Amino acid sequence: MRPTLLACLASAFAGYAYAVGVTGAAEGFAKGVTGGGSATPVYPTTNAELVSYLGDSSARVIILTKTFDFRGTEGTVSATGCAPWGTGSACQTAINKDNWCTNYQPNAATVAVSYDQAGLLGITVKSNKSLVGQGSSGVIIGKGLRIVSGATNVIIQNVMITNLNPKYVWGGDAITLDNTDLVWIDHVTTSLVGRQHIVLGNNPSNRVTISNSFIDGRTSWSATCDGYHYWNLYFTGSNDLVTFKGNYILHTSGRAPKVGGNTLLHAVNNYWYQSSGHDFEVDSGAKVLLEGNVFQNAGLEVDTSSISGLIFTSPTSASNAACSSYLGHTCQLNAYGSTTSYTGTDTSFFQYFSGKNVASAATASSVQSTVPNTAGYGKI
Ligand SMILES: *[C@@H]1O[C@H](CO)[C@@H](O)[C@H](O)[C@H]1NC(C)=O
Repeated sequence: MRPTLLACLASAFAGYAYAVGVTGAAEGFAKGVTGGGSATPVYPTTNAELVSYLGDSSARVIILTKTFDFRGTEGTVSATGCAPWGTGSACQTAINKDNWCTNYQPNAATVAVSYDQAGLLGITVKSNKSLVGQGSSGVIIGKGLRIVSGATNVIIQNVMITNLNPKYVWGGDAITLDNTDLVWIDHVTTSLVGRQHIVLGNNPSNRVTISNSFIDGRTSWSATCDGYHYWNLYFTGSNDLVTFKGNYILHTSGRAPKVGGNTLLHAVNNYWYQSSGHDFEVDSGAKVLLEGNVFQNAGLEVDTSSISGLIFTSPTSASNAACSSYLGHTCQLNAYGSTTSYTGTDTSFFQYFSGKNVASAATASSVQSTVPNTAGYGKI
């Protein structure tokens, strides 16, 4: 009996050790990211421990096995804000953060706002960290994550971030990148944020892969007053390479994403569903390549009122062949259902894909049947 029992225990432990940590590897621009690498996993039990592990200077594999709720930990602030989109109960109002109301919304009605201070600034994440949820237990409420100020080599996987003052613009961003490199965001769910789900600030974020994540735009308070979140994905870094693959973008009304700065964006095999406004905003400096995506009931694929960047939407098999020499594959057609599609034919920026790690592309039809079931936390 004894040898058998020991063998069982040994294999159980081997299985456990193998299951702890990052699953898979990043594809696309952030290929090669290692995060905390082979560091012995740590299991924070309190908010303070989580903040400490993320913010110290050690390489760490941080496993989340519970919910970390930051609401109330920094107090509640009552102040005067503004109502740029009216005071209807479905409308977001805004915090006068950095005098935004005063400077940019001088004609908006003023309103009383009461918000949770913890939501406004995310937890600092330093270099060489893997933050990984176990099963569907890794949840952070009321505070986001900030990979900034030179932090590099970070993996965030299988985590849900939710409830950052969703009533209020400037109430909080779920994930912020600014002045970083080699970041992989995978199987993450973000919902009920005040401002952006994922924001890449104006400083370089360099190599970034966002994959298999769920941008859940369903809300009761929206800048478009219709239950669809407006501030979603903001990619405006001054030197950014962003692979955006296998993500599910649900129930948004704009800026999903907004692209500018000097950003090369490869958006491949994503699923946009239920948009009441536009998906892509293509601003000056944006270089956007869309392929193999599905847009279903997704409003305007591109905000055509202001296109000042470059965009290729893989419109025909003949034109998609031009991808081969730069991306290493022929681009895949996108698929559209009840969506106003846009034909972007600019190939002048394909040269920037040369020599980079470029994600593979499957057909749009395979996306429709998989992505809504595989994107987000709790799926690996
Ligand atoms: C991150 O890890 C790499 C590789 O081990 C190391 O060279 C680097 O100094 C680490 N960075 C920081 C900021 O600790």
